[in-house]
Amino acid sequence: MSVLVFREDGVCVSASDRLLKLLGYGDEDRSLHAESLLDDNILQLVRSRTGCIAQAGENLDIHLRKSDGESIAVQADLWWMEDTPSGRIHYALLIQELAASSNIQLLRQFSDSFVKSANLGVLLLNDAFKLVDISPSACQVLGLERKLALNQPLDTLFAAVPEEYRLISRSLLEGVVVRNHAVAWTNAETRYELLLDASLLYNEAGKRIGAYVIFKDVTNLRSLEEQVQRSDRLSMIGQIAAGTAHEIRNPLTSIKGFLQVLKKTLQGHGLHREFEYTKIMLDEIDRINNLVSEFLLLSKPKDNKYSPVNISACIRDILPIINNEAILHNVIVQYEAEEELPLVVADRELLKQVYINVSKNGIEAMSEGGTLTITERLDEAKQFIHVDIHDTGPGIPSYVVDKIFDPFFTTKENGTGLGLAVCQRIIHDAGGQLRVSSKGYGTTFTISIPYVRVS
Ligand SMILES: Nc1ncnc2c1ncn2[C@@H]1O[C@H](COP(=O)(O)OP(=O)(O)OP(=O)(O)O)[C@@H](O)[C@H]1O
Ligand SMILES: [Mg+2]
Repeated sequence: MSVLVFREDGVCVSASDRLLKLLGYGDEDRSLHAESLLDDNILQLVRSRTGCIAQAGENLDIHLRKSDGESIAVQADLWWMEDTPSGRIHYALLIQELAASSNIQLLRQFSDSFVKSANLGVLLLNDAFKLVDISPSACQVLGLERKLALNQPLDTLFAAVPEEYRLISRSLLEGVVVRNHAVAWTNAETRYELLLDASLLYNEAGKRIGAYVIFKDVTNLRSLEEQVQRSDRLSMIGQIAAGTAHEIRNPLTSIKGFLQVLKKTLQGHGLHREFEYTKIMLDEIDRINNLVSEFLLLSKPKDNKYSPVNISACIRDILPIINNEAILHNVIVQYEAEEELPLVVADRELLKQVYINVSKNGIEAMSEGGTLTITERLDEAKQFIHVDIHDTGPGIPSYVVDKIFDPFFTTKENGTGLGLAVCQRIIHDAGGQLRVSSKGYGTTFTISIPYVRVS
């Protein structure tokens, strides 16, 4: 607390060191006239009240004048007392909070809580591109441990990441100001969509002293936006599919019927080569029929048969199909089941189709053989059951990963590109999520479905 004692004629009797320092005066200025320190109003107030200051300790908002003429707002308690020998009235101002210092405190508090913020990524860098401070959220997204990362040059921290993939590049120090820059970043486990701001920090003399980077994790927003776009596209495809499916299927059914008659006749006449042709034609017709069925799944399915489903039982049912496929590709299948999983509400057959599609993709990705691991996980905090389907294939390049859920996106010669689009639709309809994480080698698809709460 700072103290100023003055007489009613304005002469300072005493001023505390702290007050003199804060107002920019030295020791030699101790015998100042109160008028040079105080707002005119306060002296007028004091004079007008001489003899009738009833409330000792009256709280006032006043202004103090600094040695450079600047004025600062403070709160003070005004006391008065009588000096016994002289009978003069002395006034004492007990200045509780100097606004300037409280502002500095406020700023410090702000920057502290900013850097401690749980949902904002903050990095403070010095002029040597070393990390001065980092928020917990930034540590999590960037996969850093705060204690180990502090004081390290960013080049060292991200030495393993090629320059063009780095979230923060040295060019930041060259004054490249970044505003609302949307970037994708994948740490060891998760892919994040970030909105990033970065700028330089200068001292009062205009010298560059460091830089800051602030980012917000907008993964949910971006995926929501993508889901909306995707479901727009899907519903368009669905409408076309629903409209044309019957037009395609009806003629196919009659072609198939006549072909089967033809097949028998050709066999009866011993025309074996022609007989083989009809077999191929019938297979192809089945392929078209399957494609039309997948198309129809993309239009909002109307006859989903929702019922309580045991995910482990579902996976056990389809394991032989997956194993068959795996043997053909020299792949080993591992199944890590969770005991007694709660039930989910879904269409059992469609759910099986999702696990088969995603597993097939994994197996197809491992052209040289490998391991496909299916793991069940119970997430009690979020009330979800996750099924991770992990392959040891080459992974999905970052420029491809955004497109894999798009209908007709395929990198396979004989692929339709409908597999994941259909899976996505089925899982969304069951209130769940289908996510992918791939970091250059190996890919994990996570199929998450909310489970039934038993209260
Ligand atoms: N586990 C994986 N590893 C690497 N790439 C994958 C993996 N899963 C999917 N992909 C990529 O995603 C693309 C789209 O997959 P999707 O299942 O939708 O279609 P597809 O497998 O190409 O064809 P379809 O499933 O219709 O026969 C694939 O072509 C492939 O490039
Ligand atoms: Mg597929």
